[in-house]
Amino acid sequence: MIFDTHAHMDDRAFEEDREELLSRLPQEGIALLMNPGCSQASSLAAVELTKRYDYLYAAVGSHPDAADEVNEAVLDCYRSLCRENPKVKAIGEIGLDYHYEDIPRDIQQRAFRAQMELAREEKLPVIVHEREAHEDGMNIVAEFPEVTGVFHCYSGSLEMAKWLIDRGWYIGFGGVLTFKNARKALEVAANIPLERIVLETDCPYMAPEPFRGKRNDPGKLYRVAEKLAQLRGLTAEEVQTVTLENGKALYRI
Ligand code: NI
Repeated sequence: MIFDTHAHMDDRAFEEDREELLSRLPQEGIALLMNPGCSQASSLAAVELTKRYDYLYAAVGSHPDAADEVNEAVLDCYRSLCRENPKVKAIGEIGLDYHYEDIPRDIQQRAFRAQMELAREEKLPVIVHEREAHEDGMNIVAEFPEVTGVFHCYSGSLEMAKWLIDRGWYIGFGGVLTFKNARKALEVAANIPLERIVLETDCPYMAPEPFRGKRNDPGKLYRVAEKLAQLRGLTAEEVQTVTLENGKALYRI
């Protein structure tokens, strides 16, 4: 059984068949699923979904792409969602993305810090999206030593992963591990403690091989478990079991 620690089931890509898919996933080996928010609207949708499916949990937060919406009212909304819904287990996804510069860096940094502060107040872990912003990302993480969580869809170096793990963080891997050009991610996944790795689809994006380019869904995550098992000399079942426990420890489920 698998814990998909990062799946955007509220995404419009699932508009047509969301209920059917969510009803079926437990029979396809999905034991638990974390649906992070990307914006205020998406966080509200994620929390609603948790009320209808036992195995679903939610996180609330604004992604760097939505960093310009983060203000006191939005933070108050997230605070209430955390306090009123026991299935809200994290703040996320939050972070920095310098790949596209649609949102200026200073606005992204301000939103990231404000949401790290919220996580500190609410004593919740965070789900961090960090792309091409390693140095600024690490600096902000270092400002909040009490806050830990997961670096999802990990794209940093082995050295940075070890730095995070020493501070209590988890590292999330998804479809990228199965890609031909995944040398860097594979190096990290092979050399960090298995107890610090969690599996994720990041669906509807990042479908693993042989589904690359298609819509991703949690039912395809077994491919990532297989790849990690091959890399670590384990069975896919062993990888599923350990990463499921890791995900539960990460989100305190
Ligand atoms: Ni995501």
